[in-house]
Amino acid sequence: MSLALAARSTLIAPSATLAMGAEAKRLKAQGLEVLDFALGEPDFATPPNIEAAAIRAMRAGQTHYTPPAGIPELRQAVAALYTQQHGLSTDPAQVVISNGAKHSIHNALMAVCGPGDEVIIPAPYWVSYSDLVKLTGATPVVIPTTEDHGFKLSPERFLKAVTPRTRLLMLNSPSNPTGVVYDRIELSALAEAVLQTEVGVLSDEIYEQLTFGDAQPTCFATLHPALAERTITISGVSKTYAMTGWRIGWAVAPAPVAKFMGDLQSQETSNPCSISQWAALEAITGPQDSVAMMKAEFQKRRDYVLERIERLPGVTCPPPGGAFYAFLNVSAHLNRTLGGTVVSDSTAFCRAALSQARVALVMGSAFGAEGYVRLSFATDLRTLERGFDALERFLHESVVRAPL
Ligand SMILES: Cc1ncc(COP(=O)(O)O)c(C=O)c1O
Repeated sequence: MSLALAARSTLIAPSATLAMGAEAKRLKAQGLEVLDFALGEPDFATPPNIEAAAIRAMRAGQTHYTPPAGIPELRQAVAALYTQQHGLSTDPAQVVISNGAKHSIHNALMAVCGPGDEVIIPAPYWVSYSDLVKLTGATPVVIPTTEDHGFKLSPERFLKAVTPRTRLLMLNSPSNPTGVVYDRIELSALAEAVLQTEVGVLSDEIYEQLTFGDAQPTCFATLHPALAERTITISGVSKTYAMTGWRIGWAVAPAPVAKFMGDLQSQETSNPCSISQWAALEAITGPQDSVAMMKAEFQKRRDYVLERIERLPGVTCPPPGGAFYAFLNVSAHLNRTLGGTVVSDSTAFCRAALSQARVALVMGSAFGAEGYVRLSFATDLRTLERGFDALERFLHESVVRAPL
């Protein structure tokens, strides 16, 4: 008799971004060149001062269990960051350090959601949100937003979706996958709507330091004094400091929620990696010049990507205000012949792009937005140039056969 899986196993699918990345790696392992724009991680090395702090920590014997919610030094530093830089008075007891922001989101959802609850998620959304909600037994209530409305949730649509079961609204600005950044006025209007209800907010601000041009990040919890007690803010070092592999994220939450998240972690994973915590401490308290350098580089790539998208036949893209993704509208190419097959949806589009043009993208359906594909520009300009050359040739085929 084989071991039966729990009913829960049907609730989640493997992360689509990681799955596309894995397919690209499989082709690479066969010796084929793949221009990989699927993965969402900075291509830069972790800055040397951070690596040095990790080495120092190891040599100093910081290689044992730490308190489950994180070392006091790091919780204190995160609290100081929010208090001093974001203007959100934060006590270290409100800070929980976890194994990456994804884990912080999981713990936060476990803390406040359960069977019978509903969680509002504006789409396009980051791939993991709806599966992480389902794991708690709660129901994701996805509200589609459109390119015409800047992929932003309006207060009216939020209020319309609220029911007596709604526990949380999940926000993500700057957004993965669209790069959309809500401005302060738009977020304030949403905050006012939230305050008319009993709904809490999970604000995922992991890309807060990566904004371009006039776009400015906003810490949602600062928008009204009453928000702090119903908002869980998520962030971490993965994207800002090119530290995806170190697995350090955090949540700033009302103290009782933070206490539960720490307790949960004590039963689940004990603590985040001790060495990574010391490295993260250096990241946020040490010199910040590498952040400025990486940001400037992302800005260059973003401008280049927008220039090249204009030349792609039948493709449009709302200019990303932050993060490192372009969300390409490829709907004009659906139900046409690409790479010898009729491409009916964004998954088929990505498959064709990978097999014919050797370009790895992620299907919009994984983000709750059919007709789009996500291109990550967390890769060097030369690779981007070659990738766009390949995409241009690939899309040309469909246009030559039947003009758009
Ligand atoms: C919107 C968003 N939130 C959270 C995460 C998770 O970050 P971490 O690698 O720290 O778990 C990601 C990573 O892709 C993300 O894009």
